[in-house]
Amino acid sequence: SSNAMWGGRFAAGPDAIMEAINASIGFDQRMAAQDIAGSRAHAAMLAATGIVSDSDASAMRKGLLTVLSEIEAGRFEFSTALEDIHMNVEARLKALIGEPAGRLHTGRSRNDQVATDFKLWVRDQIDAAIEGIEALIAALLDQAEAGADWVMPGFTHLQTAQPVTWGHHMMAYVEMLGRDRSRFSDARARMNECPLGAAALAGTSFPIDREMTARELGFDRPAANSLDAVSDRDFALEFLSTASICAMHLSRFAEELVIWSSAQFRFVTLSDRFSTGSSIMPQKKNPDAAELIRAKIGRIFGANVALMTVMKGLPLAYSKDMQEDKEQVFDAADNLMLALAAMEGMVKDMTANRDNLAAAAGSGFSTATDLADWLVRALGMPFRDAHHVTGSLVALAESRGCDLPDLTLDDMKGVHGAITDDVFSVLGVQNSVASRMSYGGTAPDQVRAQIARWRERMA
Ligand code: ARG
Repeated sequence: SSNAMWGGRFAAGPDAIMEAINASIGFDQRMAAQDIAGSRAHAAMLAATGIVSDSDASAMRKGLLTVLSEIEAGRFEFSTALEDIHMNVEARLKALIGEPAGRLHTGRSRNDQVATDFKLWVRDQIDAAIEGIEALIAALLDQAEAGADWVMPGFTHLQTAQPVTWGHHMMAYVEMLGRDRSRFSDARARMNECPLGAAALAGTSFPIDREMTARELGFDRPAANSLDAVSDRDFALEFLSTASICAMHLSRFAEELVIWSSAQFRFVTLSDRFSTGSSIMPQKKNPDAAELIRAKIGRIFGANVALMTVMKGLPLAYSKDMQEDKEQVFDAADNLMLALAAMEGMVKDMTANRDNLAAAAGSGFSTATDLADWLVRALGMPFRDAHHVTGSLVALAESRGCDLPDLTLDDMKGVHGAITDDVFSVLGVQNSVASRMSYGGTAPDQVRAQIARWRERMA
């Protein structure tokens, strides 16, 4: 038999394969609450503008709440023949209230309906992402505060570069996540225009009030062009690209935690709650949560590429291709929220091994730059010459199998006669980090100032 919603011009129903490729109810049922909110706003507007009677509208609005409670209670039977959440809800409303249900679709189309539902859904996810980011920032601030002056090696090329503080390293991620948060809120502000009332593509001849439905659904205004309103998926793409950048940050941090928790580094101990064991090697404690967070960027950025590829080349306005938007965004959102929560849990629970960090901070000639800077300051040497002299001292220490502070003054004088005992004061790591007082530098006072600035910002 032909479709009850659109089957007027059809003699035969769809092939089973047609139904299978066409149906989205298997996934878009996740937008049930948004669909019903949109329909309830639309019904109220239809009554306020005199397009339907007050009694029809209140029957619709009441009936829609019943449908919602059935869905929430798991008592709703979704039908593949009814394709999607929009038609499933409307068909059930018809069964519940009869004729007035048939008036609900006046002055709208599934095209503006789905765009509205999906925007509402994505908007909620943006709010959830911002919450997850803020919780993770709070956990990082606590770590940074505890270890504002704990020294550790800073790396470039994953080779020891200069000592930094634990707090400074944690605060680097706070900066990244702060940008993620601001990207999500920018995206939210930009997307917050309501497509409802664009109808199929051209608008409608009914005297609808788009300001009213926009307001009702928490949008700032109605979208200004009906063709754009039904064919725009920028909001989903911005969500996915912002989520991708955020997941990339999480992936970098996760990679550091994997390295830091290894037996070779022992910079951090991850809690049992966020680790797993091996079924064969009894000694193992694996950083699986970190590894999975490291991997999540794969599917999140994959979703971004997938939807961008779906959208490219689509003529205006709606094409069914666009139905492929939801699963990508659903999956990316689910996994971003999970990754944020797992990272927050790991950061809260992890222990920085202060002594190991300090020991590592002093190895690998990490204060060679301080030595070169001292030659410049104390002896008035040009930096390039100081660099060369320091290089010779590093080579000497390396040949002795010791670190720079282990060289004697005579060793030093052998390389450059003007060096004095004072030089040893700059070779300690604590001294090294304390000296980096430039704005944004690793000196504990700078780090504490940044923590205070972020705490204020987050309040
Ligand atoms: N299930 C569809 C989607 O997700 C709803 C819009 C259908 N519109 C249409 N003209 N067939 O995109």
